[in-house]
Amino acid sequence: MDAFLIEGGRKLEGVVKISGSKNASLPILAATILTEDDVYLENVPDLSDVKTMLKLLSNISKEISYEDGKLLIKQGGEVQTVAPYDLVKTMRASVLVLGALIGKYHSARVSFPGGCAIGARPIDQHLKGFEAMGVKIDIEEGYIVANVDKLRGARVVFDLPTVGGTENVMMAAVLAEGETIIENAAMEPEITDLASFLNSLGAKIEGAGTPLIRIQGVKKLHGGSYRVIPDRIEAATYFIAGAMSGGEVIVDDLIPEHIDAVLKKVAEAGIDFKVEEKRVVVYGGKRPKPVQVKTRPYPGFPTDVQAQIMSMLTLARGTSVIVETIFENRFMHVNELNRMGARIKVEDRTAVVEGVEKLKGAPVMASDLRASASLVLAGLVAEGVTKISRIYHLDRGYERMEYKLNALGAHVERIKE
Ligand code: EPU
Repeated sequence: MDAFLIEGGRKLEGVVKISGSKNASLPILAATILTEDDVYLENVPDLSDVKTMLKLLSNISKEISYEDGKLLIKQGGEVQTVAPYDLVKTMRASVLVLGALIGKYHSARVSFPGGCAIGARPIDQHLKGFEAMGVKIDIEEGYIVANVDKLRGARVVFDLPTVGGTENVMMAAVLAEGETIIENAAMEPEITDLASFLNSLGAKIEGAGTPLIRIQGVKKLHGGSYRVIPDRIEAATYFIAGAMSGGEVIVDDLIPEHIDAVLKKVAEAGIDFKVEEKRVVVYGGKRPKPVQVKTRPYPGFPTDVQAQIMSMLTLARGTSVIVETIFENRFMHVNELNRMGARIKVEDRTAVVEGVEKLKGAPVMASDLRASASLVLAGLVAEGVTKISRIYHLDRGYERMEYKLNALGAHVERIKE
C-alpha cells in the first residue's frame, strides 16, 4: 500500500490548476447509459473512483477510449444491466447507475451499497423515488432488483435533500413517460452539471440548482460533447492549504461561486485572499481566528470540506466549534490530528477545536477521502515529518495530489509500505 511522507513547514507558492469534478463526473458517466450514441467528455479527472465507474460502464455495454484528451464513450456489445458487488463495494457512487439503467432498460440489478466509514448512508429516498415512478423494487441476495414495464413521470418529494437520490431520480425520469417533479431536491452544482449534460443530449430538465426540478420525459437522447465543471472540493482543499502555509497560492480554473461558503468562513477567520473570475489568490501564513462551522447541504458549508477546515482551525488563536450535520461518523480525522498535537474533543456531532501554536509530524492513518486530505494539510504545516498510511483513499478523489503540492514547493513523497 502507498503512503505519503511529508516534510512539513515549507512555504507554498505558485499556481495550482483544479481538475474536473469527481462528483460531477461520476453521475455524468452513469448518465451515458441513457444514450446509444457517442459521447465525448472533457475534464474528467484521472482518479480511481472514475476508473471504477468506467469499469462498471464497460460491464454494462460501453466501450471506452480516449481521443484528443477527451473520453469517448460508445455503445459496445451485449447489454448487461448489472452492477456487481465487487465494484459497488469499492465505490458507493456505483449506485448511480441504477437510475440510468431503469430509465433506459426498465430493469436493473445493482448490488446494495451498504454502509461506509462516514455513516450508514441509506438509499431509501432513491428507492422511494423510483417506486413513485412505477418501478418494482426487490432486494435479493444483497442486490437491488428493479423492474418496470411502463416507466411514468411522478411527483417525488424527498424527506431530505439527497445529492445521489436527486441525480438518480433525474436520470430515471428523462426517458419516462410524462413529467417528473422532484421536490426538496438537492441543489449542489454537480446536480446542475448533470442536468446541463443531459439537456445537451436532448433531455428536458428545468430548475436544477433549486429545490424544485421538473423533468419532461423525451423519447430518446442523442450523443454529444460536454466539459465537466471544476472540482469545488479539490479547489477548497488547495485554498485552505494556501491559507495555512506561508506563501501566496493561486487556485486556478475553478468557479469561485461554488466555494462561496468556504471563502466566507475563511474570510471570517481573518485570512486574506482575493477572488477573480476563475481563480482565487490566497495570502497564507497568518494564524486564523477561531470560527463556528456547521455543515449544510449546498449552498451551505460542505461536509466534504469539514475535515480540511478543521485542520486549519487546529492552529487558530482560540477555540472553534464544528458541527457535522450531514454524516453521523465523519470525525475520523480527529484522533489522527490529535496525534499531531491538535487539541480536539468530539461529542456526538460536535467537535471543539482548541487552537494550538503548532502541529508536530507523526505517523497517521488515512480513513476516508476528505479525512486524508485534512491530514495532508496538517502534515504540510507540521514541524518534522508526517507519514500518512493508506493514501489509496486520497487517490479516489485528488488527481496527482503530490505533484500539484510539490509544484507549489511542498515536499511530499509517495512511498510503498
Ligand atoms: N440519505 C438518506 N437516504 C437516502 C439518501 C441519503 O437518509 O436515500 C442521507 C445520507 O445518509 C446523508 C444525507 O442524506 O446523511 C446526504 O446524503 P446524500 O445522498 O446527499 O450524499 P451522497 O449522494 O451519498 C454525495 C457525495 C459525497 C458528499 C455528499 C454530501 C458523490 C459521489 N458523493 O454523496 O461526497 O459528501 O453528497 O454532499 O457525489 C466525497 O466526495 O468525499 C463524498 C463523500
